[in-house]
Amino acid sequence: MSPRLPDGEPAPADGALPAHALAGLGTRPFGVYVHVPFCASRCGYCDFNTYIPGEGVRREGYVDAVLAEWALAERVLGGAPPAATVFVGGGTPTLLPVGELARLLAALPRAPGAEVTVEANPDSVDPAYLRALRAAGATRLSLGMQSAAGHVLAALDRSHTPGAAVAAARAAREAGFEHVSLDLIHGAPGERDEDWEATLAAVAAAGVDHVSAYPLTVEPGTRLHAQVRRGALPAPDAELQARRYRRGDAALAALGLDWYEICNWAADDDARCAHNGGYWRSHDWWGLGPGAHSHVGGVRWWNVLHPERYAERLRAGRSPAAGRERLSDGQRALERTLLGIRLREGLALEPVQVDAAADLAADGLLDPDPLDHGVARLTLEGRIAADAVALALAPSPAPLSPSARRAGTSS
Ligand SMILES: C[S@@+](CC[C@H](N)C(=O)[O-])C[C@H]1O[C@@H](n2cnc3c(N)ncnc32)[C@H](O)[C@@H]1O
Ligand code: SF4
Repeated sequence: MSPRLPDGEPAPADGALPAHALAGLGTRPFGVYVHVPFCASRCGYCDFNTYIPGEGVRREGYVDAVLAEWALAERVLGGAPPAATVFVGGGTPTLLPVGELARLLAALPRAPGAEVTVEANPDSVDPAYLRALRAAGATRLSLGMQSAAGHVLAALDRSHTPGAAVAAARAAREAGFEHVSLDLIHGAPGERDEDWEATLAAVAAAGVDHVSAYPLTVEPGTRLHAQVRRGALPAPDAELQARRYRRGDAALAALGLDWYEICNWAADDDARCAHNGGYWRSHDWWGLGPGAHSHVGGVRWWNVLHPERYAERLRAGRSPAAGRERLSDGQRALERTLLGIRLREGLALEPVQVDAAADLAADGLLDPDPLDHGVARLTLEGRIAADAVALALAPSPAPLSPSARRAGTSS
């Protein structure tokens, strides 16, 4: 596993931000991401910055390090605005004792009605844990289910049984969580049509109000990547993943879950993940934890990857940021297109994009109705070809900023 950081420029040791970045802070929605870099075992496809037992990374003291970074954030921001959203992701946040998560959440000032999501693996929670997490202020639980087929879970190196995610989703509802989401992966090696059907049926049985479903991607540096490279496993088949997408979209729609981003479906506006919406709309957020990325007013930065280096920096009174970048106008326009086109609300087109959009509508990839009002919205086939559509609409050949490639990786 080899998560990588972008290049960028060095970040100042005190983490200070330029005045132009801080201007208007608090007038835009503000989010806080907390990365928890621990897993019980590593799934072969995953390149997230996470550490398993035996890799020399201690969980004890982790929340103290994160709280030290939060104290730095408060200083740098001149008092952080109350968070509209908090997302505790990983890794596996629920490997921390629930009291530690409660201590963390208690320290993060939140706006009334804030969304507080915690990611969990199905075998890392039980009803008592979920009740305590809910009492600590979490409002939304995001469970990594991936598949309902045992052999697919085995191919993905998942540690839980097929039924565990459905049971955990029900327990979360019983514990009082307003919103429960399931993460799915489709197109894994050995997954058959009937396995995907079984997964979709399990979603129906779980009674959740949100689903994230991603095609399996083969990330460099992962075990899956090595297996595919030496021919031990087949590479994911784009045609098959497109078929899974069409079927998944229809089955989720039949459950009352409508797409609002190309890989995310929700029962209604309240069930959408507002935190991820902040990434997609380039709002402000502070990412706490090793490898976490932040964005405030057009400045992005990213923390050192290793949890021990991260904690050392904070103990020495220094910012854990490894590098940062100020986005140029060209990069911002490009990112607006690449992220905005993925949303159901569509992308408000600039005049230079109108001709390309008309061609895409003629090809059946954009919906012609909103186009009359200058908005590009993907059709079903457009969602499947979203990357190509985004490139066709890209306003300039400016390269995508390195950190943006990782934006929105939390579910
Ligand atoms: C990184 S995990 C963190 C949450 C939790 N540990 C879990 O596994 O559910 C968040 C989600 O990212 C998705 N994911 C990670 N790597 C992926 C890959 N290579 N292809 C597709 N989805 C991936 C999975 O659906 C996973 O549930
Ligand atoms: S997918 Fe989730 S459980 Fe698996 S290694 Fe990645 S973060 Fe950990």
